[in-house]
Amino acid sequence: MTRPPPHAAGDLAPAGELGPDGELVLIPMRWWHVATVAELEPTVFATDPWTAELFWSELAQGDQRRYLAALWRPRGVAAHDLAAIIGYAGLALADDGAFIQTIGVVPRIRGRGVGARLMIALLRHAGRAGARSCGLEVRTDNHAARALYSRLGFVDIGVRRGYYQPSGGDAYVMRARPIDTVGYAALLDEVERALPGRVRQEP
Ligand SMILES: CC(C)(COP(=O)(O)OP(=O)(O)OC[C@H]1O[C@@H](n2cnc3c(N)ncnc32)[C@H](O)[C@@H]1OP(=O)(O)O)[C@@H](O)C(=O)NCCC(=O)NCCS
Repeated sequence: MTRPPPHAAGDLAPAGELGPDGELVLIPMRWWHVATVAELEPTVFATDPWTAELFWSELAQGDQRRYLAALWRPRGVAAHDLAAIIGYAGLALADDGAFIQTIGVVPRIRGRGVGARLMIALLRHAGRAGARSCGLEVRTDNHAARALYSRLGFVDIGVRRGYYQPSGGDAYVMRARPIDTVGYAALLDEVERALPGRVRQEP
């Protein structure tokens, strides 16, 4: 496999990002994205960032995982030239349930719908794969993430004390169910319609 040119982590001018002169693209995360994503991790997650090895082991799970990278692609720029990863997210599939493993958006782009785009894409994938529910853990003080998950139908079902390591932070366990219904698909469509800009998803 040919390795595309490396993506520089966050090297685009913020003023141009998510503007009319480019597009947000969601692509499956591949092994050649791992170094960039691992480089972004400490910026995206102030505590308990994942290592490159953890991303490697996740991608090695094959069809039981779905990881997406969000790229900002300036108009007229060849597919991988200057493309930069601005977010990423991963889903685990097991039996008839799904689980959000991680989701992160670079700080300078937050609050502009990229996290919602990633979640919606993963939740649609989970539904297509036969998952009836989707779970996740979230830090009890992570208000931005909790707002996003609530909008997507997730509700609290429990608390895990000291879940995050090594920091020892507590987590809420949240779950959306059922996610394989017409009604849930309609909710995702509604949330998507309210988002700014457009997205293109590559297979
Ligand atoms: C959680 C996260 C992925 C959301 O990504 P995002 O691109 O900001 O998501 P969205 O813009 O779709 O929505 C985020 C929510 O935060 C709100 N928000 C507003 N301003 C914000 C800001 N400056 N920063 C973060 N969130 C903001 C949004 O309005 C939205 O709330 P709403 O659903 O009530 O409208 C992102 O904040 C992040 O990477 N956080 C650090 C990593 C993390 O905590 N991941 C979750 C682990 S469980």
